[in-house]
Amino acid sequence: MRISVGWAAVIALGLSVAIGMSAAEETKEGAAAKADAHQYIGVDGCKLCHKTEKSGDQYGKWLASPHAKAYELLASDEAKEVAKKAGVEGDPQKADQCLQCHVTAHGVKAELLGAKYKVEDGVGCESCHGAGADYKSKKVMEDKDAAVAAGLIIPTEATCTKCHNEKNPTHKGFDYKTAVEKIAHPTPK
Ligand code: HEC
Ligand code: HEC
Ligand code: HEC
Ligand code: HEC
Repeated sequence: MRISVGWAAVIALGLSVAIGMSAAEETKEGAAAKADAHQYIGVDGCKLCHKTEKSGDQYGKWLASPHAKAYELLASDEAKEVAKKAGVEGDPQKADQCLQCHVTAHGVKAELLGAKYKVEDGVGCESCHGAGADYKSKKVMEDKDAAVAAGLIIPTEATCTKCHNEKNPTHKGFDYKTAVEKIAHPTPK
């Protein structure tokens, strides 16, 4: 059996040399398709490296922010009132009309949700920074351009207004400058 595996490798090598051009094209197409199809890893996958004081404890700052409680909030009496007024039947924690802004990655294909993704994270890191499976490695993270190429988003106002907009039943306006200060989690210089 060893011999046939060896031969398979030789044949595969020859084949990939012979069809070098089209293989390269295929890879390019694959990469383009993948660009908007990175997997979500959940907040714990970022916490690993972003929780020390030295790194700026982005995890701790996020945990103390309202975004971490966005899913939990949907279980409150207040949320049930909001849902009723918005004409949403049943449990807000199960309603698409609420989850679309109160959790990360609502409505994406199931295969894009990694094993550690959980709705309980509410509006997690990846709601603003993009799905992390392909940029979370140390090597990629340390190289900003590589990280962005692998799906990292450096948020702008448009990132926020996906949720902070008129479709939000409790919308009271949104001022990017003050809002971004409230959730700031910079890396110490
Ligand atoms: C293996 C460790 C590791 C993991 C896991 C990790 N990061 Fe990072 N991250 C780093 C390092 C190292 C840097 C670069 C140094 C720095 O700026 O702190 C960085 C930088 C960043 C930056 C700044 C990019 C820039 O240059 O402006 C963002 C944003 C970021 N990470 C978000 C995330 C998010 C979101 C996740 C989870 C999906 C995550 N990281 C997971 C190690 C990690
Ligand atoms: C378009 C995005 C969006 C949708 C859809 C949405 N929310 Fe929210 N929700 C937000 C944002 C952003 C906030 C926080 C800031 C604010 O209220 O302006 C918020 C805040 C809340 C609050 C806190 C009240 C407050 O005054 O801050 C409750 C309760 C709530 N939402 C319930 C719901 C329920 C229930 C649904 C479904 C019927 C829902 N939301 C749908 C974006 C949304
Ligand atoms: C996926 C949807 C979503 C995105 C994207 C999002 N938010 Fe939020 N935001 C919410 C929800 C939902 C709440 C209410 C959570 C709660 O009260 O527990 C909230 C609450 C807040 C609050 C506290 C309430 C307030 O209005 O003062 C601030 C500040 C805030 N967001 C800032 C931002 C900023 C800045 C960005 C972009 C960099 C952003 N958000 C992106 C959904 C989102
Ligand atoms: C509500 C949106 C939002 C969420 C949620 C969020 N971030 Fe950010 N993050 C931002 C914004 C806005 C910036 C500033 C971007 C800039 O430099 O212009 C930022 C910057 C960063 C930076 C770079 C800081 C610097 O000084 O360059 C890191 C690292 C980071 N975030 C990691 C995380 C991690 C890890 C989580 C989850 C634990 C997280 N973020 C959750 C919006 C968010």
